[in-house]
Amino acid sequence: MLHLGVLGSGAGSNLQAMMEAIDQGRVDARVVCVLADRPDAFILERARRRDIPAYAVDCRPFKSKLEGPGEVEAIERLREHGVDTVALAGFMRIVKPGLLRAFPGRILNVHPSLLPAFPGLHAWKQALDYGARLTGCTVHFVDEGMDTGPIITQRTVAILADDTPETLHARIQVEEHAAYAEALQCLAQGRLSIEGRRVHIAPSC
Ligand code: GRF
Repeated sequence: MLHLGVLGSGAGSNLQAMMEAIDQGRVDARVVCVLADRPDAFILERARRRDIPAYAVDCRPFKSKLEGPGEVEAIERLREHGVDTVALAGFMRIVKPGLLRAFPGRILNVHPSLLPAFPGLHAWKQALDYGARLTGCTVHFVDEGMDTGPIITQRTVAILADDTPETLHARIQVEEHAAYAEALQCLAQGRLSIEGRRVHIAPSC
């Protein structure tokens, strides 16, 4: 069973979907703590409603990375709760070597595009503005780059003529929730191995 620490910055719909997938027996895991880089992030409220320890970590003075005292505090919290796997879920900061070294090969992220297309912010809007016909989501292991780590799974979403950034993002999020659960369950079952850029997924028994 995975002992998940979830890091987010926003609404926490991915956390919600993970908790529901766990409840339904689709993911063999327990969310043991949730961290956010802002105290008003709704992801913290979602955790507290289920009595899951939830902390706002002060990440100053940095604006877009987790480094320095905030990184130290995050690692301490994760260790204190026995986390073995870190799931980034809408966490709007780059993670640095300190966290990567503390959880080698055990940090996952979900990104709202088919990587390597449209890394970075507002990926669904980037795809729409570019005129792409297809986009989607990617669940990947985290490395030192931005949205560059080895890919575990991807799901496609068609871009419709009348899509707005909001309608498109909403459909991508449905796929994110399913893809994240699937990736976590593969990890929980010990079926993932990384070889260079490629992730091998062993068949389920
Ligand atoms: C998701 O679209 C995720 O891919 C992106 O930020 C959004 C977070 O949504 N990185 P939520 O906080 O899980 O609802």
